[in-house]
Amino acid sequence: MTDTVLHVGGASPYDVVVGHDLSGRLPGILGESVERVAVLYAGSLGALADPVVDVLVEHYDVLALGLPEGERAKTAPVASDCWEALGEAGFTRSDAVVTIGGGATTDLGGFVAASWLRGVRVVHVPTTLLAMVDAAVGGKTGINTGAGKNLVGAFHEPAGVLCDLSLLASLPREELVAGLGEVVKCGFVADPEILEIVERTDPGALTHDSAELRELVERAIRVKIGVVVDDLRERGGADGHPGREVLNYGHTLAHAIERTSDYSVRHGEAVAIGCVYVAELAARAGSLDRVVVERHRAALARVGLPTSYDAASFEDLHAAMKVDKKARGSLLRFVVLDDLASPRILAGPSEADLRAAYAAIASAG
Ligand code: GLY
Repeated sequence: MTDTVLHVGGASPYDVVVGHDLSGRLPGILGESVERVAVLYAGSLGALADPVVDVLVEHYDVLALGLPEGERAKTAPVASDCWEALGEAGFTRSDAVVTIGGGATTDLGGFVAASWLRGVRVVHVPTTLLAMVDAAVGGKTGINTGAGKNLVGAFHEPAGVLCDLSLLASLPREELVAGLGEVVKCGFVADPEILEIVERTDPGALTHDSAELRELVERAIRVKIGVVVDDLRERGGADGHPGREVLNYGHTLAHAIERTSDYSVRHGEAVAIGCVYVAELAARAGSLDRVVVERHRAALARVGLPTSYDAASFEDLHAAMKVDKKARGSLLRFVVLDDLASPRILAGPSEADLRAAYAAIASAG
């Protein structure tokens, strides 16, 4: 099957390629002016990074830098180690970075590329479903600080993104399922055909080599591209549309669950719970039909994601939501739906509605 090339327009256009065995495309994306390439890869990937490095060493001086696992890569000391390594290897503004890994790797690697000499080219090769449909596309980069996640960062659009579905073959099933949380989210906020595919497909058939997973990946990336092209810096959309913030559907509660559980709940799982929560909230504080609320539960549960949560008290989650970086002052903000693919911002819902929505997801089985 041929590769799919999804174009991201705007001031710094690039392509997101979806297909299999895509490493051979790297030299074409990096271009001829590049002499040195730093490959920042999740150290745990082992041989998965080899095909990319093998292609690069034929064309460039390659500096391979293995990174700590997951969020442990997203720290100032790790970024600093990368800067020192680039400096020692004499990286100039015309050299480049390639990242290989999940969202933490693309966030850290993108930030190193954004900050080295005020910005060098970066190509992302995401190895998780979550990173393919979210982190690698759209130019958000960053690291964590003691005060929270992604508090230091930059917008730095990649020169290209290679979503090589073959890389998902070794991804643990629960990680693939977690990635589907972001995919289903895209179905609710923008592309209901995603929901229909999920509803008619045997969830066990959503494997790295299935046509259905590929279509879901491409559709979710199209949703993301559509949003970031219009509102790269998350300043808001036109005609009441939340703009890029729409991607945060379900994320206000999700971030609170992640924080209060000490990150023991996977991001995609927390997003699934958070989507059901905002649907319940919209049924109370807005006008969302119960049929659509229940469709959230059914679609997310179908792919194996959690739709209820009671491991923290409302008070603890409410307090955590108030320090979410998307909150404005003390006003809580949620992306909610009036209907499928009809999102808007709900600012400052009553505590009674917030509490009742939580009771609805805490009690549901
Ligand atoms: N992950 C949300 C965004 O890229 O805006």
